Amino acid sequence: MLVSAKDMLNKAKAGKYAVGQFNINNLEWTKAVLLTAEEMKSPVILGVSEGAGKYMCGYKTVAAMVKNMIEELNITVPVALHLDHGSYEGAMKCIEAGFSSIMFDGSHYPIDENIAKTQELVKLCNEKGLSLEAEVGSIGGEEDGVIGTGEVADPKECKAIADLGVTMLAAGIGNIHGKYPENWQGLSFETLDAIQQLTGDVPLVLHGGTGIPEEMIKKAISLGVAKINVNTECQLTFAAATRKYIEEGKDLTGKGFDPRKLLAPGTDAIKATVKEKMELFGSVGKA
Ligand code: 13P
Repeated sequence: MLVSAKDMLNKAKAGKYAVGQFNINNLEWTKAVLLTAEEMKSPVILGVSEGAGKYMCGYKTVAAMVKNMIEELNITVPVALHLDHGSYEGAMKCIEAGFSSIMFDGSHYPIDENIAKTQELVKLCNEKGLSLEAEVGSIGGEEDGVIGTGEVADPKECKAIADLGVTMLAAGIGNIHGKYPENWQGLSFETLDAIQQLTGDVPLVLHGGTGIPEEMIKKAISLGVAKINVNTECQLTFAAATRKYIEEGKDLTGKGFDPRKLLAPGTDAIKATVKEKMELFGSVGKA
């Protein structure tokens, strides 16, 4: 069922668990995430970065693939198709293409401009019944060409954006896309707590889900995080499983070169990672 992320995230926030956003890159990735969500009876969010959207031949292709896959695979759990770190133009294109959820990342604009652009998109998404994620305080590291310096958000600015009526809010709290450096300072729970105090029931989003220790994930959920994004970890497990298959020479024996066989170990690795994250986030059985 393709739905907006609103209900699943409000339920998650109230029930003190989080829904995973898993970024997709191709058909195999999408199929792996959808089948795992169905098996785990978990709601799920498919994240599409602008780069991945381009790679998959545009947002219309992605929306058609996801809608048809949901039907063909008999997926009954709630699925949101979400633009990840969208620009204003990207958001407009995804609204038109049939995405059910949008992230507008205006964190690199001065706060007044971020507010103005987010406000316009709140109106548009409300009219169309789509969920909207906004961002305050950029997330560190690089996500498909979007580079952030890793600011810790100002809770008052978070309140100003939350009050516009966004569905969910991503706030920088020291989280980073990609692998965390050895000297990482950890998440600022003080900031997260202050943000939740000021933003009330609005579900909070934790980006950079790869490599955050389990106890920090659990604490973040207890402080209002209801959506956690995971991208790099699926890429790493996919790459490791594919490498193993090739190093063992299986791609050259029998029919091992058949792309459906060649990509199978990586796809299974994605399924295992998604399953593990759903268990950690507490979303299993919540569909
Ligand atoms: P990671 O790549 O660190 O898992 O972060 C994913 C993310 O936040 C997508 O927006």
